[in-house]
Amino acid sequence: MSGAARTGDQPADRIQDGIYFRKGQTPGKCYRLLLINIRSGTRPNEARAAIAAIWTLLAELRRGIVRDLRPLEAGDPEVIVPDGGLTCLLGFGARLFNPSLHVPRLVATDLRPPELVSLRPNGVGTPFLNLPWAGEEQRRPGEADLALQFIAETELAVNRAVVEIWKLIDDQDLPLDFVTMHAGFSRNDRRSWIDFHDGLNNLESSQRRGAIEVVLADPAWMKGGTYMGVLRVSVDLAVWRSLPREHQEILVGRNKLTGCPLEEIERGRNGELSLKFMPGCPFGEPLTPAQQAAFRDPPRPGDPLVQLSHIHRSNHNRGAPDTDANNRVFRQGYEFLETLADGKPCLGLHFVSFQRQLARLTNLLRLNGWLRDVNFGGATNPRAGEPAPIQFLSVVAGGLYAVPPNNDPFPGAEIF
Ligand code: HEM
Repeated sequence: MSGAARTGDQPADRIQDGIYFRKGQTPGKCYRLLLINIRSGTRPNEARAAIAAIWTLLAELRRGIVRDLRPLEAGDPEVIVPDGGLTCLLGFGARLFNPSLHVPRLVATDLRPPELVSLRPNGVGTPFLNLPWAGEEQRRPGEADLALQFIAETELAVNRAVVEIWKLIDDQDLPLDFVTMHAGFSRNDRRSWIDFHDGLNNLESSQRRGAIEVVLADPAWMKGGTYMGVLRVSVDLAVWRSLPREHQEILVGRNKLTGCPLEEIERGRNGELSLKFMPGCPFGEPLTPAQQAAFRDPPRPGDPLVQLSHIHRSNHNRGAPDTDANNRVFRQGYEFLETLADGKPCLGLHFVSFQRQLARLTNLLRLNGWLRDVNFGGATNPRAGEPAPIQFLSVVAGGLYAVPPNNDPFPGAEIF
């Protein structure tokens, strides 16, 4: 299952489908993340055979072939269902490498990529600091041995992938257990629940491969693959909506309606704030390449308060994406809305990012001046009239995954 493509003079990549980083690709509308554990007591060859069976099933689904509709008798027609443009991606969590959870050992411990750790509520392994876990009642599992990401244009295609896997496990008594499933949907208004545009700056297509592809053979089986970070972030809209529009714009760093970058904040005699956005923006259509670049990637602002906005805290250097210090990640998140609890919608951003080292994401969340000391953006010690630090994000589920390069019979098969 590969959509590998040559970029310029580079050799073709081996990055799995399901990461829409290639020029002209757009992720489908519907998202599922299925988390699966391998039962303790399973031998490596049994685990390998079970994953291979799933991967074969998924390859067939991508061609519209459903197992229960296969012709069995002479004269039966060949049934091909709409595939919905389904893509499938397989990731391995830190749990897979944990010998205390898998007896006998499934995978040699030294094959675990050093940065691939379980997320913990606090201490070593918590990436969050100021992005706290949601309360117990809202928290969901985010980690497992295996993560299968499905993206397609239709709800049916992503749901069918999940149900067909369940049927296969049942039919063949595979040593696998479903842990949970996370769902998400894309928005054609290109905004997020906080109403601002999202994804305005998500790396130019020519820069994406450099930001996501693992180039070090540490461990060797991950060379040519990538790493996935998943944070299902719940948004407290009541807190967000209690802020005046100007404060929201200062926290994000963009104009709420147009997406134009905030450049400067003037202070009146009585401390009142007046926001200055990029001159000339919004630009008339079509944008010139220079206008497009300035809109997407505004220069580092001189104003210290603008520097503390979400877009500038999460992207400091605006330089080459394959330079470590820039901590660039390729975001491919989806929105979610779950049940209505206590009369309030439980909604948020299912943040997903791909990067060639997990440190790019964890640094972004942990470093001073980046997102370490805030929940979203803004000053920690605001002056009069400036937005006070707010807490409106919490993590419902999260996990880090190694996403090995394409291989047969499935990505990463060589480690079992
Ligand atoms: C999980 C933690 C998060 C991280 C690591 C993160 C990271 C980022 C990054 C790297 C950017 C691009 C900045 C730029 O180059 O201009 C960005 C922009 C943005 N993010 Fe986040 N973000 C997170 C959570 C959220 C949440 C939960 C929301 C909304 C509820 C959100 C809304 C936005 C918006 C509106 C933008 C500006 C639009 C854009 O430039 O794409 N982010 N974020």
